[in-house]
Amino acid sequence: MAHIPRDETFDCSLAVLNNGYRFISERCERYGSDLFQTRVMMRPVICATGEDAARMFYHPHRFTRKGSMPPSTLMSLQDRGSVQQLDGQSHRHRKQMFMALMSPDSIKQLGNLFEEEWCRRMQQWQRQESVTLHYEMEELLCRAVCRWTGIKLSEDAAVQRTRELAAMIDGAGAIGPRNWKGLVLRVRTERWARKLIEDTRHAPLSRPRRSPLESIALHRDENGNALPAEVAAVELLNILRPTVAVARFITFAALALHNHPQYREKLRDGDAWRKMFTLEVRRFYPFFPLIAGIVKNPFEWKGHQFGKGDWVMLDMYGTNHDSRLWEQPYEFRPERFQNWEGNAFSLIPQGAGEFDNGHRCPGEWITIELIKRALTMLVSGMEYEVPAQNLSIDLSRLPAIPASRFVITKVRER
Ligand code: HEM
Repeated sequence: MAHIPRDETFDCSLAVLNNGYRFISERCERYGSDLFQTRVMMRPVICATGEDAARMFYHPHRFTRKGSMPPSTLMSLQDRGSVQQLDGQSHRHRKQMFMALMSPDSIKQLGNLFEEEWCRRMQQWQRQESVTLHYEMEELLCRAVCRWTGIKLSEDAAVQRTRELAAMIDGAGAIGPRNWKGLVLRVRTERWARKLIEDTRHAPLSRPRRSPLESIALHRDENGNALPAEVAAVELLNILRPTVAVARFITFAALALHNHPQYREKLRDGDAWRKMFTLEVRRFYPFFPLIAGIVKNPFEWKGHQFGKGDWVMLDMYGTNHDSRLWEQPYEFRPERFQNWEGNAFSLIPQGAGEFDNGHRCPGEWITIELIKRALTMLVSGMEYEVPAQNLSIDLSRLPAIPASRFVITKVRER
């Protein structure tokens, strides 16, 4: 059996918390290897980086996500009973429920609602001295995705739900108060989502097409049984929360535009540039650093035997910045995607591989559409200034975000 390097630190939990984005790639560089073993939370783990590692990790049916994440992260993001915690036929069946919501028409409709919310809110921004883009985006996305899903929100509820969903995302990578805040608020959001599911089950159906809320509430599992209301509620939040999370990418997109104003004209010109810029934002900026899994079916990779129950972490941020895949990976260069043929294992901010048989994020198209819509609004829909502020991104904070959350002033509709 091949020898794989071992990081001799007694336990690397602190290193993961403090340097999550570079934790795996720095050590892989140091050991001249795509994989190494260490201990995190006192538990042995194998860490791997790069395209081959993504192929290994996303090979169908090798891994389960059950037991792979610390409870604090699991409860902030997916939660028990969610699609990500399922395997095999049960996973495939539930995943279909999500995939069925992602038709081009349906995604376009969400984009339209987002733009509508943006235009309405811009009236208010014009009267404000300054606007903190990140927080505004979270609320606009929350309002848009609730309307798209078929949920009516009062003004107060929109503010409250945004606060709760945003706290879950912000707390996902933390230990301590930031994480606890997300979890405390989650209890209230789950109660609200469960009531929505129960009410929908007793209400007449929308015509001619079911809303996403109805699709989830009325979904039947592979044996023909309705989902327990609390599981359906978790899946409803699995649509709402990550859509609100797209605000982070939009904030990064605004920052990229500020740092590279030469792209403004190009982005006005056409969809091809907006697509390239969006892909580069998702590649370049830090979101989830890594993804973990537990070996379900033993296999061999690079001469190493992975046994049932082994804990493995795949380096997402490092793979998106791997110099074997990306020339000058730490430069922001949307044109790198000009002749890109697509590769499901090199650009992996939202997972890799297959959608139906694997855990790759079903929300990728929504994410891309919403970032593109935001770029259109930023370059063609309004004028604004970016005052002096702290735009640094602290990579020891998980998930990362520009310190000031991107403040703009003198907003004017174009
Ligand atoms: C901010 C943008 C987003 C990021 C960075 C992101 C990232 C991810 C990642 C890393 C995974 C896990 C992949 C794995 O376990 O291997 C995932 C799964 C998932 N995402 Fe996203 N996501 C985003 C947006 C969305 C959106 C907009 C939706 C839905 C509208 C969504 C719904 C889901 C669901 C349901 C899963 C579980 C899939 C499965 O287990 O098969 N995500 N996402």
